[in-house]
Amino acid sequence: MPEEIHYHDYLQLDKILNAQSPESNKKNLPAHDEMLFIVIHQTYELWFKQLHIEADSIIEIMNKPALNDNSPELQTVVHRLNRTATILRVLIHQVDIMETMTPMDFLDFRDMLRPASGFQSWQFKQLEAKLGLKFEQRHGKDYYISQLKQEHIDIIRKAENKKSLLELVNGWLERMPLAPSFVSIEKESFWTDYRGRYENSLADAEKNNLTTFNEIFFETSNPKPEIQNRSLSSKASRAALFIMLYRGYPMLQLPFQLLNTLLEIDEQLSSWRYRHMNMVHRMIGTRIGTGGSSGKDYLKAAADKHYIFKDIAQLNSFLIERRKLPALPAELEKQLGFVAT
Ligand code: HEM
Repeated sequence: MPEEIHYHDYLQLDKILNAQSPESNKKNLPAHDEMLFIVIHQTYELWFKQLHIEADSIIEIMNKPALNDNSPELQTVVHRLNRTATILRVLIHQVDIMETMTPMDFLDFRDMLRPASGFQSWQFKQLEAKLGLKFEQRHGKDYYISQLKQEHIDIIRKAENKKSLLELVNGWLERMPLAPSFVSIEKESFWTDYRGRYENSLADAEKNNLTTFNEIFFETSNPKPEIQNRSLSSKASRAALFIMLYRGYPMLQLPFQLLNTLLEIDEQLSSWRYRHMNMVHRMIGTRIGTGGSSGKDYLKAAADKHYIFKDIAQLNSFLIERRKLPALPAELEKQLGFVAT
């Protein structure tokens, strides 16, 4: 008879439940809320671990030389991206529990923690890198890993040097045929027609958008530096815009959900950053963080700069009203339907 697995052993509760050692107890200066502080951080780190498991599996699928868009794989990617967004939503709500600790409660043990800080959460920074945040885009490039151990810096650097989810999404968009006829309408006048309709939709104050439209969707000479640094190529941007515009067709629903969920993840990450920043402001005012940064100011700058999928979000500036969309050729419509006969 195989030995029965017991709940306690399966979850290794001996390890988990004995992994809290408040500094205030060690110093014999009891501070009731330090246990809450530890448990919350540990819970975050466990969820970060799960987010990595999801991200790794998504990246593995997207990295296949031939991700089959007609197989269940794309659905798996979208499903796990959705789970990622759901976990992030829970992480934002956990701040509510943290905020039941008052600044005076925190002061009871705050100085005992220096220089420990969530700033040293290598799992968080590694996750940002896996999703697509590049070293060059970081706020405080020389600083963001300054408080980390070398082994953790190595982990983050490794993630920064590998293909990120964002890069894989760019490759997927570039090679995605969507439908055989999409390739031919692309070559014909589809985008010239669309460009004209987009131009007509612009208010006078927005006419400059047309230059950006050309730079993003067609390779022009001497584009603005921010265009050169975009994470999506012109071809990938056209595919993404097409998906957003015609997402009602069955073949485009899953690709649309994929793009939309990436924006959801960015929004949730950003909400977390702002929620955390406001909590920090409430907790320590304008004092520096235990990790030695300028505290709230550092967090605000990082929150403003660390949008990962912003180039996908920007494509929404180039949508036009549904009723003004160019009609698709009958052949393409058929191919975008459930049964391409
Ligand atoms: C009393 C509660 C908290 C305070 C006062 C606080 C304060 C701070 C401060 C001031 C920073 C900036 C770096 C520094 O100088 O330390 C920071 C960074 C950070 N904290 Fe917290 N924190 C708190 C709770 C948490 C929790 C519960 C988490 C969950 C893991 C967390 C995760 C992070 C992360 C990931 C960063 C780095 C953010 C980035 O570089 O963009 N913090 N925190």
